[in-house]
Amino acid sequence: MITNEHMLIEQSEKLSGEVSVFGAKNAVLVTMASTILASGKFIFYNVPASTDVLYMISLLESLGAHIIFNRIENILYINSSSITLWRVCPEIMKKMRASILVMGPLLARFGKAEIALPGGCVIGARPIDYHIKNFEKMGAIIGNEHNYLKVSSNRLQPQTIVLEYPSVGATENIMMAATSVKGTTKIINAALEPEVLDLVKVLKKMGAIIEVQAPGIIIIQGGKYLSPIEHEIVPDRLEAGALLLAAAITGGSVTIKNARAHDMDVFLLKLEQMGHTIQLGQNGITLHACQDPKAVSFKTAPYPGFPTDLQAPMMAAQCLAQGKAVIEETVFENRLVHVRELQKMGAQIEVYHTKAIITGVDELYGASVIASDIRASCALALVGLAAKGITIMTGIHHWRRGYELLETKLNHLGANIQVAYGKPMPVIQKTNRLAKELER
Ligand code: UD1
Repeated sequence: MITNEHMLIEQSEKLSGEVSVFGAKNAVLVTMASTILASGKFIFYNVPASTDVLYMISLLESLGAHIIFNRIENILYINSSSITLWRVCPEIMKKMRASILVMGPLLARFGKAEIALPGGCVIGARPIDYHIKNFEKMGAIIGNEHNYLKVSSNRLQPQTIVLEYPSVGATENIMMAATSVKGTTKIINAALEPEVLDLVKVLKKMGAIIEVQAPGIIIIQGGKYLSPIEHEIVPDRLEAGALLLAAAITGGSVTIKNARAHDMDVFLLKLEQMGHTIQLGQNGITLHACQDPKAVSFKTAPYPGFPTDLQAPMMAAQCLAQGKAVIEETVFENRLVHVRELQKMGAQIEVYHTKAIITGVDELYGASVIASDIRASCALALVGLAAKGITIMTGIHHWRRGYELLETKLNHLGANIQVAYGKPMPVIQKTNRLAKELER
């Protein structure tokens, strides 16, 4: 939902303290879609009240599900017995791309699904051809009528599916549909992101027989009866990454209590290469910031590579590091939109197609910036914590789509982030030149 909410981010002291992260938004969304596969009462724990989760609640309710979301304790109750519909209206589908994830479960439960094309962050063309081609391969008939994608099948067939690219959404959608298909479905070049593996865990708890083999093979013995479950969602590695970077960029020291290091190995390695100290313990992941961090280069890749969703936040940290960093975005072709906003704050970045070259500067300055997607909003807030003066960020609906109360957690660690309403006052960017003139 687009609002006139905006965020005022003050330059922060060194952040310090301990916080926990919610369950991963991307795991919650697909897990919620998977409830269509069985009939009964599900309970999910540590569910963030991010807007995308609220959209998915509306989507499932529009199909007939009864849902109660205890937002104080972050517990989500879904009764899927009452789901009787298989048509998802465009108003809901357009709000987020993850809505495509109900296609496989609806096909499994009803043998049909009618969905409008999904929306979501504008970070590239984001086609859904892998989903469609492979449902067709499994025997579904797919047509396009009055802006609805109509998918139907009397009986899906088990197949060996080869994905051209390890797409997270296509792997999840095909895996969920395959749980209903008698016989063996094999997904080759499957995505193995922690959120995909959490879905595997959920489906296995429900009664599915699924085996994950290296490198990137998922085998589903389908046709088993699935039952409702209780499940605690895997901790959000992207929220954990944001909080660790907030400590790094302010020169502080922060512990993320329930974060799982093995979900974010390459990211943690890059933080260490910058000079930060990472400690893993029973108490979670702690980052002690190095006071003169070095720039590091990286390129994004499917798991276990550097996650595309941490590219923008990690770029924020490079803007103030010593030396040059080369960042290459290989997953989405249009995911450097945040560069323009970082430049407004004094960052020195050159872009060549999907590569950004960042030359670290000594200081950045608060400016009026616009968040263009979820992770861009995170990057801008991080730079705001380190930039002189105040940063005003609009486009907060993106921040709300991805995170619940992240600004409150940052404030708990010592940041000063305020949410305001109405038309934001413009910030005059105080560049080095302007700062010198003002000092005269
Ligand atoms: C999911 C995550 C998103 C993350 C992304 C990559 C959710 C809700 N979102 O998105 O946060 O950034 O994984 O880790 O889990 N592609 C095609 N055809 C398809 C499907 C994908 O060409 O049918 C391409 C995409 O355009 C993209 C690449 O494959 O270039 C990866 O996309 P994919 O892994 O499918 O991302 P999502 O599942 O949409």
